[in-house]
Amino acid sequence: MADHTSGKDTALDFCLATGEDFEGVMAISGDVYRGMDYLPLRYHPWLQDPNRRTFVAKREGQVVALESVLIVDDGQTAVEQGLRVAPWERGRNVAGQIQSFVEDFLKSEFPAVKIIRLTRIENPPLGLLSKYRLLHSKAVLILIVTPGEVQEIIHSLIPRLDKEGLCFQQPLTLGDEDVRRIYQNEYVITKLLPATMLIQSWLPIHPKQSNLDYLLTQGITWLADKVEAPDFLSLGSPPFRVPLEDNSFRLDIDLFGTDPRSAKMHFLAQLLAGTKAMKEGVVFCALYMELALFPVLDVFTEGIKRYDLWKEQLVMEKEL
Ligand SMILES: CC(C)(COP(=O)(O)OP(=O)(O)OC[C@H]1O[C@@H](n2cnc3c(N)ncnc32)[C@H](O)[C@@H]1OP(=O)(O)O)[C@@H](O)C(=O)NCCC(=O)NCCS
Repeated sequence: MADHTSGKDTALDFCLATGEDFEGVMAISGDVYRGMDYLPLRYHPWLQDPNRRTFVAKREGQVVALESVLIVDDGQTAVEQGLRVAPWERGRNVAGQIQSFVEDFLKSEFPAVKIIRLTRIENPPLGLLSKYRLLHSKAVLILIVTPGEVQEIIHSLIPRLDKEGLCFQQPLTLGDEDVRRIYQNEYVITKLLPATMLIQSWLPIHPKQSNLDYLLTQGITWLADKVEAPDFLSLGSPPFRVPLEDNSFRLDIDLFGTDPRSAKMHFLAQLLAGTKAMKEGVVFCALYMELALFPVLDVFTEGIKRYDLWKEQLVMEKEL
């Protein structure tokens, strides 16, 4: 086992992450999000993204922390993602130091950035709450399914709709032009998007043209209850591999709106869309919804196994 006790008092070096740092970054990431970490898959694409800068902190040449920022909102906001510190370095303000380094970098290289935004789970550190404004909080429910049982799940849940006097109505799939029109509609922004923000798979951004253009390259399934004046919208990420166990995938489903009936139908439609091309594996299907919808979907999905990991998704920001 590596000896991490020496050199703890030597200085940290901060630099842009490179492909060669991958092994070092993975070596500090083993316990991150209890196996639901997206970084193994996204690390290399992140390095290629012109709107993103990813940094590592090293001690004596060894990676001990990572932090990444994506420039969004037409260059005015940096969304901070991926923060992690090596387990043997925690509790010594390494997170504080890498964040300060990144903020100084933004001030000098991206002077138009005025806001730093991030998402966190429930019970964030008090120090974070004193620096950032809490903009919104959504509930999270993570279900465990296999692609082979999705049809069965859907057939067992549709009768629950019938019992409530509802019949399943397939939400509509939006094309690129619908997405641009609907998500920039004032009614949709103020009524459906929390804090006027579109949160896709933990990425909180304003529905500006440049941000939508970016999301439209991400293979997302965009659904709406109707194309004119919609009352409910949802986004489904493509399922992506996570390190929890062999062949495990995460499917993130973001729900926008408060109507319980639409929430159930969007969940079913997104689950089906997300898993239809899959033959095997285990899918951790994470649903992000307004807090009031949690009890509704919790009861509706009774019988499906849960992964008890996150309860809430908080969106916070501060001035740079
Ligand atoms: C969370 C984590 C990055 C904290 O690293 P650390 O170096 O041990 O942090 P410390 O406890 O020494 O705190 C140092 C500073 O960072 C801040 N900090 C701690 N956790 C933070 C978090 N999750 N997000 C942002 N800042 C955080 C603290 O508020 C503190 O600043 P303050 O003194 O001004 O209040 C580390 O425990 C870790 O890698 N955990 C696993 C991955 C993870 O949960 N990442 C965070 C969410 S993306």
